[in-house]
Amino acid sequence: MKMIESHLQEHRIFLPPSEFSSVAAVRGMDAYHALCEEAERDYEGFWARHAHELLHWHKPFTKVLDESNAPFYTWFEDGELNASYNCLDRNLQNGNADKVAIVFEADDGTVTRFTYRELHARVCRFANGLKTRGIKKGDRVVIYMPMSVECVVAMQACARLGATHSVVFGGFSAKSLHERITDVGAVALITADEQMRGGKALSLKAIADDALALGGCEAVENVIVYCRTGGNVGWTEGRDHWMQDLCANQPDTCEAEPVSAEHPLFVLYTSGSTGKPKGVQHSTGGYLLWARMTMKWTFDIKPDDIFWCTADIGWVTGHTYIAYGPLAAGATQVLFEGIPTYPDAGRFWDMIARHKVNIFYTAPTAIRALIKAAEADENIHPKQYDLSSLRLLGTAGEPINPEAWMWYHTNVGGGRCPVADTFWQTETGGHMIAPLPGATSLVPGSCTLPLPGIMAAIVDETGQEVPHGNGGILVIKRPWPSMIRTIWGDPARFKKSYFPEELGGKLYLAGDGSIRDKDTAYFTIMGRIDDVLNVSGHRMGTMEIESALVSNPLVAEAAVVGRPDDTTGEAICAFVVLKRARPEGDESHRIAAELRSWVGREIGPIAKPKEIRFGDNLPKTRSGKIMRRLLRSLAKGEHITQDISTLENPGILEQLSQS
Ligand code: WTA
Repeated sequence: MKMIESHLQEHRIFLPPSEFSSVAAVRGMDAYHALCEEAERDYEGFWARHAHELLHWHKPFTKVLDESNAPFYTWFEDGELNASYNCLDRNLQNGNADKVAIVFEADDGTVTRFTYRELHARVCRFANGLKTRGIKKGDRVVIYMPMSVECVVAMQACARLGATHSVVFGGFSAKSLHERITDVGAVALITADEQMRGGKALSLKAIADDALALGGCEAVENVIVYCRTGGNVGWTEGRDHWMQDLCANQPDTCEAEPVSAEHPLFVLYTSGSTGKPKGVQHSTGGYLLWARMTMKWTFDIKPDDIFWCTADIGWVTGHTYIAYGPLAAGATQVLFEGIPTYPDAGRFWDMIARHKVNIFYTAPTAIRALIKAAEADENIHPKQYDLSSLRLLGTAGEPINPEAWMWYHTNVGGGRCPVADTFWQTETGGHMIAPLPGATSLVPGSCTLPLPGIMAAIVDETGQEVPHGNGGILVIKRPWPSMIRTIWGDPARFKKSYFPEELGGKLYLAGDGSIRDKDTAYFTIMGRIDDVLNVSGHRMGTMEIESALVSNPLVAEAAVVGRPDDTTGEAICAFVVLKRARPEGDESHRIAAELRSWVGREIGPIAKPKEIRFGDNLPKTRSGKIMRRLLRSLAKGEHITQDISTLENPGILEQLSQS
């Protein structure tokens, strides 16, 4: 706990601009407090009211929250609805049929627009196509696709049939994909021939084939392939089908299958503190409700807004704020295939200007990388672009340092756009602690206050709340509709990870340290308190990387820690002991390179350690436990001032301190 100390030295404060507040969904702090009080007074009534107002129910619910089997909470369980119906059909009925749903910009700059009518027809044709392959309610379908309209279509088509999708980020390796396919028990895999990123074609189908060849995937009888580039692919007759062929001649309507509000809409894998990723299972009703509500509250979405979330659809941000939230809100959104630095690092600003984006949502890592680029090259500085369409900015996925916040606010937002720093997680389904831009005053580096209905608090190791100004463990005191329902296939791990007995068994443990400001009660997130790293906004378990390293025949032992990095937030630093003598000079570079590509193949390029240091041993206690805190200090290049009296082999520190 002592490690979590107040770093809040930030005194700059930004009031919501009056032009913004006067037309916002929530106008001012009185309106915010009124919503919070409503939730306090009648928690179930509060959520029921929004669920009735914002979603279409095929069969209305009679019960709101069921806590009888805590922590396996259920919401609106006897109600029936369909997520795809709510995202598409409702927009055809309420006058949005010819409104643009998605402005797709390809890697090479080609722009294609899809109206709600067109998107609906595509989803229906594909859902009908999936039906011809026998895919039905309750099946699991893994999606391994590029950023594309086809990926949204695939997710929505699954939702339409009541099949549970599990999207795997396109940067994961065959092995990671295989692990997810078998864990979730998929019957089908939807992929693409290749993906285009930064002018390069990268294979997906070949990796998918490798994954399926690893064995244990016999249940996957169908592989459906979106033809993105027309590049060469291997083909298994009978199993593989082109997406385009499957959709040809299919009717452009398809009845949406009503499912229970608790029906799993998707499973999304994320890293935890063990070597095995967790399949976070989300519901249909509660999840969609919060996706819709946060579009209104945090993003203040208006009918004419152009919304752009730059996250990859393989992460939760792309699920909630691309595939579901904006569509459920009837919004127009930009969907971008490529990367922010191609053809140059002005791409985001150029796209905002060309598409007249009003609400822009990106990751702190992207902002930090673009700051560096803009400082190096005046021509791609945001001031060179007309960004006057912007009215709101957002960030998510990792802490944003106040300097980056200020740069974003000044140079991208022209000083006039509120910046919503949104704290949330794969497990929470949507924003948890975030400003309401028409109400909340902003402090750079703080995600400010919990959204109405979210009962966030900071506690000590025994579950007791700590006074404001003291650091502690971030928890959520009451269940909320879009929370994780369980870990797929592992309810015991769900209970242990998120509702630990040490905290009394009733508090949701986010896994982050946090502190509230003494005066404003604002939250600042201090980072993970478990063995999870956040590299460029990607969650990585240190154990996962360690198991990948030790599976290499050269490696005897490995320990992975994070160290602060100016651009990526944290960087991966691995300490490795080989089965042979410690390598030096060229040999050490060669083996480090070999191990980095090994990790890339085992997990994916995002998990490659930035630095690998070799030692004869690792610093251990007499009982053989690796002293990670020492490794963290070594990785940072710190002089060790900590107590090392329990260290078995103090001599090792000097060896490992040399990078
Ligand atoms: C971190 C991403 C500080 C945090 C939506 C959390 C943040 C993890 C913020 C979840 C923020 C997310 N400020 N830290 N605004 N948002 N985090 O599951 O450590 O990929 O636990 O969900 O990212 O990452 P995940």
